[in-house]
Amino acid sequence: MTEMTEKKRGPWWKNTVVYQIYPKSFQDSDNDGIGDIPGIISRLDYLAGLGIGAVWLSPVYCSPQDDNGYDISDYQDIDPMFGTLEDMEKLITEAKKRDIRIIMDLVLNHTSDEHRWFQEAKKSRDNPYHDYYVWRDGVEGKLPNDMKATFGGPAWEWVPELNQYYFHQFSVKQPDLNWENPKVRREIYDMILWWMEKGVGGFRLDVIDQIAKEPDRGITNNGPRLHEFIREMSRETFQKGDLITVGEAWGANTENAKLYSNPDGSEFSMVFQFEHMAMDQQPGKEKWDLAPLPFVKMKQCMAKWQRELYQTGWNSLFLDNHDLPRIVSRWGDDKKYRKESAKMLATVLHGMQGTPYIYQGEELGMTNVKFQDITHYRDIETLNLYRERMEQGYREEEVMRSIYAKSRDNARTPMQWSAEENAGFTKGTPWIEVNPNYVEINAEEEREDPDSVFSCYRTLIQLRKEYPVFIDGKFELLMEEDEQIFAYTRTSEDEEILVCANFTKEPARCPLLGEWKDARILIHNYDREAGETLMPYEALILWRGKVRT
Ligand code: GLC
Repeated sequence: MTEMTEKKRGPWWKNTVVYQIYPKSFQDSDNDGIGDIPGIISRLDYLAGLGIGAVWLSPVYCSPQDDNGYDISDYQDIDPMFGTLEDMEKLITEAKKRDIRIIMDLVLNHTSDEHRWFQEAKKSRDNPYHDYYVWRDGVEGKLPNDMKATFGGPAWEWVPELNQYYFHQFSVKQPDLNWENPKVRREIYDMILWWMEKGVGGFRLDVIDQIAKEPDRGITNNGPRLHEFIREMSRETFQKGDLITVGEAWGANTENAKLYSNPDGSEFSMVFQFEHMAMDQQPGKEKWDLAPLPFVKMKQCMAKWQRELYQTGWNSLFLDNHDLPRIVSRWGDDKKYRKESAKMLATVLHGMQGTPYIYQGEELGMTNVKFQDITHYRDIETLNLYRERMEQGYREEEVMRSIYAKSRDNARTPMQWSAEENAGFTKGTPWIEVNPNYVEINAEEEREDPDSVFSCYRTLIQLRKEYPVFIDGKFELLMEEDEQIFAYTRTSEDEEILVCANFTKEPARCPLLGEWKDARILIHNYDREAGETLMPYEALILWRGKVRT
């Protein structure tokens, strides 16, 4: 890179694409049916072939697995089901050899109730660890207030030995840490520094906007001391390294995102915000209460984030993760146009400004799963939802419809490596069943096929490396009110691109393409001359150098 482009391109994490691994479902090496770290190591060449520069690893720490590892009982050791600390060190080294950095998942809002701190904390009120958690005095059966936990039931759990309740925003096995206590914060920072010394490339911070809770005032996210805590943590830890940091913040808006991702580096590199992911549900209700995607609103929302964070922050770009259904089933068409729509969604996303995240299997166009009944599901949130809604008198059919559309298990079925038994994920019995469509949809089929979804992702990753306009170009939404077309330009000093996509099953007029007919085609998901009409889910990116005037 010339000095000029280097300056425009900024830090490494603006120029990379991150791949998220959900370890339990990625690759099993010892045939116990659960993915593990040696399994990940065996697939690093696959990831290098895709072209990604970092892997975000969902939690592999010691955990009773009440919430699949998001309930940590020891931050400084690896759960035996995933391997050993030596395996983890080997993963970091082997990844580095392939220019891939490892991003650890930090769950700092809560621990497992089996964490040593909590075991101590509940022994007595004057135990030195008692104040590591959030307690309220009370009488049994009379909760401090009516706050609810995300996974169902009240957010308070009674401990008879202490005559106190502890606060938990997630399951009863995930007690919230007390960030008001400086000792808690110091323990956390020391732990982060320890991982930094091991050579990790960054951190993803689980539900970080919920750490500064004030339960007496009903405050869970965006508490008054939130940014103070984050800045202190960043100063004490992240700023001592050259890391990528991404906070998960369901309560983020464009204003606080500018704080989280302030270019002065005082907080994180970026945040995961979910505004676009909460649009296909009934307003004011839960994600299970389905509604069609309001397409124009969704475009406007994405455009708003692009516009607002331009030069004042940095976006993370994602449509999939381990908590979300598969995007091709959600916003695309997972039947007739599976390939076309998966590529279209990738093209629209990867053309934007920000750091793209690919969730395992997304690069194959993996789809949602439809298990026959609730007994096949494993996710605590899904199981609790089923129980609650059945008790409330919903029809089973209706509950299952929500689960088919939104259950987190849609994303958690094993990675589809090949057409072999269990998709090549394990020779044992997988902890959750494989999606039966692995026979057609799998990595082996796709890797060498230039027309596959995999090849489309590989090309998109490559384009970001070749054309700086993907990194610094200014975003502008076009055809804003159009009900079928998602079109935008990215413009920098000397280049511009047009990203144009048909989001529907019907052909769509796109006169813009006429104006760009002499431009270079960087990527196109149909093997045809691009006219002014786009076929179902057709998408392309055009490039032209700017003539200086
Ligand atoms: C985050 C994680 C999710 C987990 C929750 C509680 O949202 O992504 O998987 O259940 O936090 O830790």
